[in-house]
Order: sequence, then C-alpha cells, then structure tokens
Amino acid sequence: MASIKVQSLRKEFVTSDSTVVALENASFEASGHVFVSIVGPSGCGKSTLLNILSGIETPTSGIAEITEGDKKARNGYVFQAARLLPWRTVMDNLLFVQKDRDAETRERCQRYLEMVDLGHTANKYPGQLSGGMQQRVGIARAFSIEPDVLLMDEPFSHLDAITGRSLRKELHHIWMETRKTVLFVTHDVGEAVELSNRMVIFGQGGRLREDMKIDLPFPRDPADDAVALTKANVLRTFEELDLVAS
Ligand SMILES: Nc1ncnc2c1ncn2[C@@H]1O[C@H](COP(=O)(O)OP(=O)(O)OP(=O)(O)O)[C@@H](O)[C@H]1O
Ligand SMILES: [Mg+2]
Repeated sequence: MASIKVQSLRKEFVTSDSTVVALENASFEASGHVFVSIVGPSGCGKSTLLNILSGIETPTSGIAEITEGDKKARNGYVFQAARLLPWRTVMDNLLFVQKDRDAETRERCQRYLEMVDLGHTANKYPGQLSGGMQQRVGIARAFSIEPDVLLMDEPFSHLDAITGRSLRKELHHIWMETRKTVLFVTHDVGEAVELSNRMVIFGQGGRLREDMKIDLPFPRDPADDAVALTKANVLRTFEELDLVAS
C-alpha cells in the first residue's frame, strides 16, 4: 500500500531580486485507495507540491516522500498539458517511459491505451489526435508504468466541458479498478467534489488551510442535491478562509 507523507514542508524560490515562498509548513498524510484533491488559488504552491513529491524539485526543508512498504514508491505524473513527444507515435510515447521495450511491455501499454478507449491510435502521431485524446494518452502513459501513486496536475483544465466530463468519469472508473493512491490538483471545486474522498485546501503563501473528508457515495452526479450542497459548502469555506478560487 502506497503512502504519501508531507511534513513541515517548506519551499522557497530564490531569484536575483526576490524570494518567493511557495509552500510554508505544509503537513498531511494519505495512504491506500484514496483520491485526494489539492485545491487553492493560483500561485499557492500546488504544482510545486507535486514537483517535490515526484522528485523534480527539492524541498527547502521538511519531508515529502511517497513510499510503498519500506521502499520508495513509483509515481506516475500527469501534467497539465499532455507533454507528448510529437515525433513519436502514441505507442512510442508510452514505450519511452518504460524500463523494457519487450513484447510484454508493449502489450501492457496497449492495454492502458485501450483503457482510455484509444487502442486504435497506437500508430498515430500526437498531432493527429484532438487535445482531449492527447490528454487521455498522457493518462494512459502515467498508468502504463503501473505506478503506486498517481500525481495529476489539473489534467482536464484545458479541455472543453463535455470532454472534461467524460474524462472525469473515466478517471473515476480507473481509480476504482486499479485502487491507486491519487493526488489530484485542480482549480475546480466541483471537479474535486465529484472525484475525491478528501480535499486539502491551500491558501496564499503555500499554507495548508483545511483538510476535509468528502463522505458521499460514488459515482457522484454533479446535478445530485447532496453533491451540489457539498460543493456549495466547500465554496463557503473558501469564502470564510478568504481564498479566491481562481
Ligand atoms: N521555478 C520557479 N522559480 C521561481 N518561482 C517559482 C518557480 N516555480 C514556482 N514559483 C513560484 O512559486 C509560487 C507557487 O507556484 P506554483 O506553480 O506551485 O503554484 P500553483 O498553485 O500551481 O498555481 P497555478 O494554480 O496557477 O498553477 C508562485 O508564486 C510561483 O510564481
Ligand atoms: Mg500549477
């Protein structure tokens, strides 16, 4: 079972003329089959948190680690933009992040493409796919390394409402099936309420302001009264904390 541990985490970026505190004294833990949304206004350190957890950035102080048992866990990172290599086919984009390129690995990659309904695109180039399809390839790529933890940074924010809605359903389905630990950054409180069983709210200066459970049965329909009410309550919390959901 994978565990995420963030303890007294601080990150500052020092440039020639200023120091920006991106995260300040953040602590939370999550483990097992949970879907944790990280929400908060622009610039509150959400991407920085995922970058530190994935090892792209180093913390200034504190702890940020993902473990599986007593080992370092494997993480799959879905970026805000799909970030596919345009000169490689869809299959080659998935193979690029694998340790091996043998038949078994190919089969696994194909299986994850099929999971996002893109089995037929293996030999196409990213430029031949729509934005939503490219994003689905990005999701298949993250799952194809069979990570212990999925880190997702606003993966649906650039998509139209209909594509976003169908991908949210798909992601929920995959999460139920694979039982991974997911850390999902979003600006969209509705999206967070629909998908997650826990919401961690960050505020200005990278301070963790609220850590709340969302105890509603899945699947959740945004039009459902209980889901709409929870969303309204979270937005009220944003107001009370003086956070602007941008
Ligand atoms: N490499 C960097 N160098 C300098 N400052 C940085 C760097 N990366 C992030 N920052 C600053 O750290 C703060 C947090 O940035 P971060 O990208 O984590 O915010 P965010 O919550 O993901 O915002 P958004 O919702 O707009 O994506 C911001 O003030 C940002 O300008
Ligand atoms: Mg960001």
